[in-house]
Amino acid sequence: MPPTNNDRSLVIVANRLPVQRVRRGTTSTWQTSPGGLVAALHPLLRKHGGSWVGWPGGEGGSSRAFRHDGMDIKPVTLSAGQIEGFYEGFSNGTLWPLYHDVLRTPRFRRSWWRSYVEVNQKFADAIEPLVGPGSMVWIHDYHLQLVPKMLRQRRADLRIGFFLHIPFPAPELFARMPWRAEVLEGLLASDVIGFQTRAVAQNFLRASRRLTRATGSGCTLRLDDHTIRVQPFPIAIDIEEFESLANAESAGERTRSLRAKFGPKRKLVLGVDRLDYTKGIDVRLRAIEEVLRRGEFSARDMCFVQIAVPSRENVDDYASLRREVEQAVGRINGEYAEPGQVAVHYLHRRLSREDLVAYYMAADVMMVTPLRDGMNLIAKEYAASRIDGTGVLLLSEFAGAANELRQAVLVNPFDIDGMAKAVQTALTMPPAEQRRRMRSLRNAVHSYDLYDWAARFLGALRGDQDA
Ligand code: G6P
Repeated sequence: MPPTNNDRSLVIVANRLPVQRVRRGTTSTWQTSPGGLVAALHPLLRKHGGSWVGWPGGEGGSSRAFRHDGMDIKPVTLSAGQIEGFYEGFSNGTLWPLYHDVLRTPRFRRSWWRSYVEVNQKFADAIEPLVGPGSMVWIHDYHLQLVPKMLRQRRADLRIGFFLHIPFPAPELFARMPWRAEVLEGLLASDVIGFQTRAVAQNFLRASRRLTRATGSGCTLRLDDHTIRVQPFPIAIDIEEFESLANAESAGERTRSLRAKFGPKRKLVLGVDRLDYTKGIDVRLRAIEEVLRRGEFSARDMCFVQIAVPSRENVDDYASLRREVEQAVGRINGEYAEPGQVAVHYLHRRLSREDLVAYYMAADVMMVTPLRDGMNLIAKEYAASRIDGTGVLLLSEFAGAANELRQAVLVNPFDIDGMAKAVQTALTMPPAEQRRRMRSLRNAVHSYDLYDWAARFLGALRGDQDA
């Protein structure tokens, strides 16, 4: 249930605004974006009258604040140069690969760093006039790590929280970054810093003690006169939303129609990801290829459906991943498709929540095999949608979700043979074992939801000791 935020006013800051511009002919309107974070925080802002500061997407536009659906929205607009330097460059060409264990080579360009500083300052400038004395400011994700310090320098009275949605790397990797001290000190001006898992919080604690003047043990750090609480707050999903989508009559119809289209007797294996090199889509395809090569299963018995949501298409590593994935799909189908029976279906598009849930409900096996991932909510969404209590989740050991979803079939996503074997195990898993594991996964997913997550973080930010 939506939590109550009983005292101070709240400002949410994230690179993305919770609204999208929708154009109709010559006019345009704003629509609330789908997605977890917005769903969790929207009720809080609506109830207590807070603001959301973020980039509306695209180049330029108006930075005038407006009200939408009970929220005050403050756009921070970016120029073409800032999109290139701050967003595509430092955020997604430096920090993203560095924080995901250097799966691609991070580029340390000084011009990107300058743009990152400039845009973080732009965010801090936009936030300051919105916050009354003692307000809570909750900043999200790697794009905005300098904002806590920039705000603190001007406003000592604020309660500032920061949550990192992605992993934080081992100090040995983080230490490569030329601006490591500036980034850590930017974050350490927060009162509470939240991470997805305990291991990642530990990485941050170690890096801070090693690379700044911060001291402290356990989950409390001190820097100069300031105390910082560093803690895991694993993010969750809106369970009610997924269960009600799964229980809707139309979901049953959509699921039956999908099963009929893919072949009612064939097993359906599913992957759903942003098209990102951290998600391991390329290795997953090789594992499917290996299953087919071994011959125990053919395209008559099974098909693999990969839904790949377009993402960051102007960043080189994303463009080359797309080429690789599309080549692999062509190669596997060339070798293993049967007339009228494609082995790998590849959908490069975003689906509605309703369609996504129908795919989850239709899939006998769900492959969530990122090479590295902060949490991965797809894994939790799959379990929440399996209201019939069956289905098998193959989950990467390197996703934050693996800490909680222990009854998934855990795999090393770098191991093609191991994954092929796991797929075979999943395809032949007896229904009783599927049910036993799925019961445990669903219990784990039900233990707390997105609203509990937000309430816990805000409780800690208010200073509650037991949050
Ligand atoms: C990850 C990040 C988010 C980001 C999302 C989509 O989940 O943690 O901060 O918004 O990817 O990426 P995009 O670059 O399109 O905002």
